[in-house]
Amino acid sequence: MQERTLIIIKPDAVQRQIIGRVIDRLEMKGFRVTGAKMMHISLELAEKHYQEHKGQPYYDRLCRYISSSPSLVMVWQGENIIKLSRNLMGETLASQARPGTIRGDFSTAENYNIVHGSDSPESAESEISLFFNEDEIVDYELTIEPWLSGTYHEKIR
Ligand code: CDP
Ligand code: MG
Repeated sequence: MQERTLIIIKPDAVQRQIIGRVIDRLEMKGFRVTGAKMMHISLELAEKHYQEHKGQPYYDRLCRYISSSPSLVMVWQGENIIKLSRNLMGETLASQARPGTIRGDFSTAENYNIVHGSDSPESAESEISLFFNEDEIVDYELTIEPWLSGTYHEKIR
């Protein structure tokens, strides 16, 4: 099923100049970017985005990290992207993220983990609307889409 999700390349990845490598992983999988903005996320916006974590011991540190330096905030679209993009990212903490995943390959710090991806269709829609107006998202078809969704044969008789 086609879905969209909010993906943030966090400040540590921007500073480490690995934006391209993270995007490459997502494109290699077959996903497409439909919205993107370079933003220095304010503390207030970070607190809103991570509001469900309020009260956790890491909450203040997390919000300060996200608002410490610019991020690349994006909307991505693709087949089952919410689950599959989180698989690509790997476990939250560097100590648990497996090699081959984005976090497993690029992060060593428990608290700086390169990338954010929405975890459900509901949170994707609310997170997207926090960062984007609908007219900032450019939807388009990829002609290769039936090969990505596994439906090409249905068109052939
Ligand atoms: O990002 P993800 O959905 O994998 O993890 P989360 O549980 O929703 O936590 C959101 C973010 O909080 C993580 O990506 C980490 O940046 C941060 N976090 C942390 O610093 N320490 C923890 N023990 C858990 C999360
Ligand atoms: Mg999360």
